[in-house]
Amino acid sequence: RAEALTDAETRTLYSAAHDGHNNHTGKAAEGLYMGVRDRRVWAASFQIEGSVDKDGRGKSFWDDFAHQPGKTLDGRDGDVATDSYRLWKEDIALLKAYGVRSYRFSLSWSRIIPLGGRNDPVNPAGIAWYSNLIDELLRNGITPFVTLYHWDLPQALHDRYGGWLNKEIVLDYVNYARVGPALLSFSPSRSPAHTRSAQVCFRAFGDRVKYWLTMNEPWCISILGYGRGVFAPGRSSDRERSPEGDSSTEPWIAGHHVILAHAYASKAYREEFKQAQGGTIGITLNGDWAMPYDDSPRNIEAAQHALDVAIGWFADPIYLGHYPAFMKEMLGARLPEFTPEERRVVRGSSEFYGMNTYTTNLCKAGGDDEFQGNVEYTFTRPDGTQLGTQGEPRALLRARFEHLLMRFVFRPAHCAWLQTYPQGFRDRYQKPIYVTENGFAVKDEDKMPVEQALKDKDRVEYFEGMTRALVSAIVEDGVQVKAYFPWSLLDNFEWADGYVTRFGVTYVDYKTQARYPKDSAKFLVKFFKENIESD
Ligand code: NOJ
Repeated sequence: RAEALTDAETRTLYSAAHDGHNNHTGKAAEGLYMGVRDRRVWAASFQIEGSVDKDGRGKSFWDDFAHQPGKTLDGRDGDVATDSYRLWKEDIALLKAYGVRSYRFSLSWSRIIPLGGRNDPVNPAGIAWYSNLIDELLRNGITPFVTLYHWDLPQALHDRYGGWLNKEIVLDYVNYARVGPALLSFSPSRSPAHTRSAQVCFRAFGDRVKYWLTMNEPWCISILGYGRGVFAPGRSSDRERSPEGDSSTEPWIAGHHVILAHAYASKAYREEFKQAQGGTIGITLNGDWAMPYDDSPRNIEAAQHALDVAIGWFADPIYLGHYPAFMKEMLGARLPEFTPEERRVVRGSSEFYGMNTYTTNLCKAGGDDEFQGNVEYTFTRPDGTQLGTQGEPRALLRARFEHLLMRFVFRPAHCAWLQTYPQGFRDRYQKPIYVTENGFAVKDEDKMPVEQALKDKDRVEYFEGMTRALVSAIVEDGVQVKAYFPWSLLDNFEWADGYVTRFGVTYVDYKTQARYPKDSAKFLVKFFKENIESD
């Protein structure tokens, strides 16, 4: 395959990354995240690791969900993914070859505590695997940026009490984050020796990990898992999709518990570990922007409602101390309430603003989809043109949305997911921003021969626009952006899309597990080389 790559630079990267590794089978998932200012990079356990039955890992609720017919577009699962549980050293070599300075990855809860709960034993092999990964990253001068929860809940917690639907999860999550005497209780039926001597997450890795993310995209956890039912555990009121679930209540309950779990884990970190370990902790939210369809007051209001649900649902309690008024109005008693003590813990629980952003939606008043604020989304402007085909007047946007970070124009025709107009990003929450994901799925890339997929011109164009906007936000607007992590390092298991949708800047041949840098990788390597601040 190397002969097929005509570009010398690609060949160099390829051979550097593949030294000493030829013969793999399997699959995995992940993210490449390259830091802008702090020079950082990242991935998600279930999307890349595979090896779901190795070394004592317990099941996550994505294991069985992906096995069920019809749950992924191509009927494929995460059992092997990009095989990164076995190929981790090669992946780090690839990061190194790209000159990446920071890597974002997530921990698999069920590798660390296979049954998930606070009375369940810890798996030393899981701890050892992540510990080795962290050491190897550091040896290569790559800063680890660790997500505690990227969607793969231990199956046992779902079976035991309904997972995110039950407040019990808050205690179990906090225990997973920082196991310590206060939360441990002796359980004769499960190996107490292990439990008591356990060193997990903050305690096990915090000497080397200085950047923690509690949760990845709570909107997706709650809405896609418990509302639309397209992600594990697949609960929904739609009886064709799911035998059980109540989409009118469950997503809001799940989201409430995600916020509390995040907040109490963050509190534990800040009170017990931060001073000694010197790290920082925050959450990362869905950050797609919403723009009014036109200038009418009702559509301007619609865009705000869309943002209230997409972002404010989590960001407002965490940064401002309360749910958005519109959500209370829309949901009434279905929106759970925080006790005064909980509210105090939640407010200020994220030390930075973690932002995953892909696109911008045009918003029209109307519709009855609560998951997007009873607003209709479109990419077509009133004059029939597609969003992204013309620059939006920046001054207008500024006036309307306060402090915008991104502006960028893109043609939607070439992309699979209509990542059209990442205009958004305002600094309403007054925190330094870590762009923790930003990426582009090229349409039909899974059907192309590898040689063609490597010439990912549209993805390059997307990243050109995004990075230009990023630099201008920093330089012209003075927005404090601490890191920019493109998604993703490798093509990988794209959840309900299976392997059909590819986001990687590195092509993965799933038959051989060989990795091939795409042109977008070369673009980003160059961008970071030219723009990253020196030490
Ligand atoms: C959001 C998620 O965090 C990540 O897991 C996913 O692969 C990308 N965005 C692309 O959909």
